[in-house]
Amino acid sequence: MSGTVRWGILGTAGIAARAFLPALRAAGGGAAAVVAGRDLARAEAFAADNGVERAVLGYEAVIEDPLIDAVYIPLPNALHAKWTIAALEAGKAVLCEKPLCLTAEEAENVIEVARGSARPLWEAFVFPFHPQTARLRGLLADGEIGELREIWSSFHFTMEGTENIRLDPALGGGALYDVGCYPVRLANLLFGDAVAGHAVAVKGEAGVDIETAGVLEFPAGRLLMSCGFDLPFTTFTRLVGTNGEIRLTNPFHPEPHDVFEVWRDGRLVARHEPGEGTAFSWGVRHIHEVLRGRAEPRHTAVDDSLATARAIDMLR
Ligand SMILES: NC(=O)c1ccc[n+]([C@@H]2O[C@H](COP(=O)([O-])OP(=O)(O)OC[C@H]3O[C@@H](n4cnc5c(N)ncnc54)[C@H](OP(=O)(O)O)[C@@H]3O)[C@@H](O)[C@H]2O)c1
Repeated sequence: MSGTVRWGILGTAGIAARAFLPALRAAGGGAAAVVAGRDLARAEAFAADNGVERAVLGYEAVIEDPLIDAVYIPLPNALHAKWTIAALEAGKAVLCEKPLCLTAEEAENVIEVARGSARPLWEAFVFPFHPQTARLRGLLADGEIGELREIWSSFHFTMEGTENIRLDPALGGGALYDVGCYPVRLANLLFGDAVAGHAVAVKGEAGVDIETAGVLEFPAGRLLMSCGFDLPFTTFTRLVGTNGEIRLTNPFHPEPHDVFEVWRDGRLVARHEPGEGTAFSWGVRHIHEVLRGRAEPRHTAVDDSLATARAIDMLR
C-alpha cells in the first residue's frame, strides 16, 4: 500500500483515547477509520469524542472490513492472543497491546501465525522506537559506562478504585503483566534472552499480584525489577556498568521533563535530552513507514516477543 494507513480499533479502551489516537494524529499518514465495541452506543460516543470516523458493534466487523489495513488491539490482556490471530489471519497488520500473551506457550502460537502472515505484528512496547532509546543504546555501544552488568528498573503507580481490568485474574490482570513487563522488555532489548528468573509477589484480594519484585539472569548480567499498583508513579531505572551508570526517570514513555543522566564515581558527568515526541508516535510512524514500503519492519513480535513472554514465565 502507498496511501493513508486505515486503522481499526478493537474496544473503547482508555489507552486508545489517551495515547494511541493522539500518536496517530502526530505521526501523520494514518486515519482512525473505525472503532468496534461490545456496546454500539459506547463505541459511537468514543468515536465522536476521539475523532474516529465511525463505530461498529462487535470486533469481527473490523477484522472483516476489507478497507482496514491495520488493527490496534487494546483489549484486556487475556483477549490479545485470540484477536491478534484473527486479525493476522484476515490479512491485517496488527499493533497489539502489551503483554501480547499471558504465557510463552500462547506466544509461540501467535508468533507462528505471525510468521506465516503477509502483514507484520508488533507488540505495543513502543519505547524501542523513541530517540531516547537510540541514544541510550549508542552510549552503551560507545562504552560510556563500560560493560553493562546490571539493570535496576521499576514501574509502579497507585491504582485508584477497584473496577479495573488489571485486578481481574480472568482478564490477565496483575502488576507483572501490566507494568512489570516493561523492565523485562528493556532487559531483553539490552541483554537478550534470560536464562533464569525468580520473583516474589504480593497477591491482592482479587487474586492477582499487586506487587512483584524479581531477578532475571542473562549471560552478560542481570535485571533487578520491581512493579506494582500500590506506590506513587515511578519508572526510575539504573543501568549499571563496569565504569559508571546511566539513570533514567522514564525509559518507557519519556517526556521532555524526564531525566537521562550519566554518572561516574558517584558524580553526574553528563545530562542528555530525552528527545521529542511520545514513544507511541514514534512507534506508529514506524508502522506507517513499513506499511507504505518505505522501511523494513523493526522490533516486530516475531523478533522480540517470545523472549519477553519466556522471561515473564520465569517470574510468574
Ligand atoms: N502501551 C502502553 O503504554 C499501555 C498503557 C496502558 C494500557 N496498556 C494496555 O492496553 C490494554 C487496555 O488497557 P486500558 O487501561 O486502556 O483498558 P480499558 O480502558 O479498561 O479498556 C479495555 C477495553 O477492552 C474492551 N473489553 C472487552 N472485553 C472486556 C471485558 N471483559 N472487560 C472490560 N473491558 C473489555 C472494552 O471495550 P468495549 O466494551 O467498548 O468493547 C474496554 O474499553 C491492556 O492490555 C493494557 O496492558 C498499554
